[in-house]
Amino acid sequence: MSVKYVPVQWNRQKKIYDSILWGGILLFISSYVGFQLLFQTHISLETLIIRATALSAFFLLHLILCIGPLSRLDDRFLPLLYNRRHMGVSMFLLAAIHGIFCIIQFHSLGDTNALVSVFTSNEKYNSISQFPFQVLGFIALCIFFIMAATSHDFWLKNLGPKFWKLMHMLIYMAYGLIIMHVATGAFQYETHPIYWLLLVFGFLNVFGFHLMAGLKEMRYLRVSKKDDEKNNFYFVALEEDIPENSAIQALVEGEDIAIFKYENKISAVSNTCKHQMGPLSEGKIVDGCITCPWHGFQYNPKNGQSPPPFTEKLKTYQLKLIGDEIWIDPKPKAEGTYIEPLVLKSSS
Ligand code: HEM
Ligand code: HEM
Ligand code: FES
Repeated sequence: MSVKYVPVQWNRQKKIYDSILWGGILLFISSYVGFQLLFQTHISLETLIIRATALSAFFLLHLILCIGPLSRLDDRFLPLLYNRRHMGVSMFLLAAIHGIFCIIQFHSLGDTNALVSVFTSNEKYNSISQFPFQVLGFIALCIFFIMAATSHDFWLKNLGPKFWKLMHMLIYMAYGLIIMHVATGAFQYETHPIYWLLLVFGFLNVFGFHLMAGLKEMRYLRVSKKDDEKNNFYFVALEEDIPENSAIQALVEGEDIAIFKYENKISAVSNTCKHQMGPLSEGKIVDGCITCPWHGFQYNPKNGQSPPPFTEKLKTYQLKLIGDEIWIDPKPKAEGTYIEPLVLKSSS
């Protein structure tokens, strides 16, 4: 972990991020409300709140879904990823206001319990045009709630990054539910084609960026050329293939490895950051340490250990140099094991 990085507490960067985020949200909401009051003078305050919060949450959801692939495609999007959790929690708050107002407005006046009424007031589950779309929004909101409630680093540490990441993948299910919620709900009344165009445009952006990032990911090295059966070393790259203070990613016998060049040396560590499984090979060497591109956790490239007082440790890998060829043994050493780096003959 970076000595400078303090996990949960506030820092200047986070404050700027949140100010811009909430500045943008409030600007959107006030422009929307102003616009509606100008052209739809009969609209009620409740309906305005319901729609303004729904649309801003819906837009934020698209942005959240695009940040991951965008920052893999271009480093300039990394600052957005740095504090994505706050964007996620803000999105949840907006969606919750929308959901709660809908429940109050449409379900709290009858005899049935308001929550039960969400599920029972319309039971045309086999109709497309009259589908009980609010149920879809309700389930999605529950998913966002679980994600927001476990968003603190405390939960990340206790649930473990693997399970936690798996849980976060539920966002794609929630996204599907929301698309259906909007398509089978609001759009049954809002028939202007612009609404459908916007919906399709949003979906194509999310889908397109994920596809592009996926194709880029597939370009990492899948290594197959073996030295000999006994030594189990695989050829990965030439010296000059790795840019100074950067890495290449290699997938060798199922091991995802980052191979770094720095100070005329080469070292290899696991590609997966211990914090939230960020891709270390997309990071840089800063102050002699591998620095994760996502939130700045740091590791010594020679032993995979975070500088004291931090205790994170990565697996390390044995390398060897044959001419200007770098070869790797994919059998990992225990986390934090020191391995003498390869010293390059040329000083490129
Ligand atoms: C308890 C959960 C929810 C309920 C009961 C609910 C209910 C509704 C209702 C009744 C409408 C139509 C409102 C109108 O047009 O006047 C609506 C629209 C909408 N909902 Fe939800 N919803 C829920 C959750 C969500 C969530 C989690 C999102 C995620 C962003 C969402 C996004 C939207 C959007 C974008 C619209 C269209 C807004 C518009 O008409 O301009 N909803 N919802
Ligand atoms: C309601 C709240 C949240 C939403 C809507 C949300 C959204 C997302 C989305 C869209 C993904 C999919 C993968 C990607 O784009 O890279 C994801 C994964 C992830 N999220 Fe969240 N998130 C929320 C809360 C948080 C919090 C609080 C944290 C940090 C503590 C966090 C950290 C992560 C991490 C590490 C991944 C895995 C990314 C990967 O390996 O590609 N999220 N989340
Ligand atoms: S520092 Fe957060 S994933 Fe690496």
